[in-house]
Amino acid sequence: MSKSRRKHLWQSLNLIDLSQTLHKEGFGFLYAMQILDGKQASNYYQEQLKAESLEFEAKTGKKPHLAAILVGNSGPSETYVAAKMETCRKVGFQSSLIRFEPTITEQQLLLEIDKLNQDSDLHGFIVQLPLPAHIDVNKVIERVDPSKDVDGFHPVNLGKMAKGLPAFASATPWGIIKLMEYYNIETEGKHVVILGRSQIVGLPMSLLLSRNSKPGNATVTVCHSKSQNLADISRQADILVAALGIPEFVKKEMVKDGAIVIDVGLSRIPDETRKSGYRLVGDVAYDEVAPKCSAITPVPGGVGPMTITALMQNTLLAARQQMGLT
Ligand code: GUN
Repeated sequence: MSKSRRKHLWQSLNLIDLSQTLHKEGFGFLYAMQILDGKQASNYYQEQLKAESLEFEAKTGKKPHLAAILVGNSGPSETYVAAKMETCRKVGFQSSLIRFEPTITEQQLLLEIDKLNQDSDLHGFIVQLPLPAHIDVNKVIERVDPSKDVDGFHPVNLGKMAKGLPAFASATPWGIIKLMEYYNIETEGKHVVILGRSQIVGLPMSLLLSRNSKPGNATVTVCHSKSQNLADISRQADILVAALGIPEFVKKEMVKDGAIVIDVGLSRIPDETRKSGYRLVGDVAYDEVAPKCSAITPVPGGVGPMTITALMQNTLLAARQQMGLT
């Protein structure tokens, strides 16, 4: 471990521990709040990926290769996919962006996926979501070969992960796990409340945090749109994961003093003071919640960069598996 990484870990450990001790002693108003910086953690993991990518290339003569299918040209999806392609370049991967008109039929898209499944030059690919309403997203997810499913959305990968077997973990929850590791956040025995039960975030997040592993071994409660007394439950959370897709839903009354808050949301809300006419917010009302927390992810710059980094880690793993290096 490098000296700077050791120093960083020591500092983050102290800050989170110190704030929790102060809360316990009734000095909640004095604690230090840690920003869980997803860009900083991503830079650390991406340096590792760069070195591992070079090693892969030296052994196989190929770069790890990720492709993304983008149907239509919705603003947010364009931005996400561009960021994924740019990160491939940064870590030394090959990337391919495959675009289709929003009018592509479900059958045509499934046949395009078959082509990518069979393309031995390609180690992993994703189909950027959401898809147009006439396409059944489950059919699309199930068509992707699980060995190339670096998003970890296929039922085979979700099922293996649920059983604790090696699998591609869904990129957003896996990115959160790596962020927790980076900041040395203890989850064992903690009460984690997850707001949202989506197949790509809430569900796999609950599996990863309740498994017998590190980070893991948490007591996990999953809340959803039919949950009653949501604020009573979320206030019990030592670690609160907000993944509902509702801008600024989590207010200060819903958060315990000293909690660690992970904000998965990313929405554009109108803001006439900005040149763009909008600003990005998460599922947490950051300004009022952050002062109560011992640690919190910012939006943007928290979970988002970690999702992309986790996707790169899955791609390298897929490439290694396909080249017989694992
Ligand atoms: N849309 C929003 N998040 C994601 C993601 O992680 N993967 C894909 N494929 N689409 C998304």
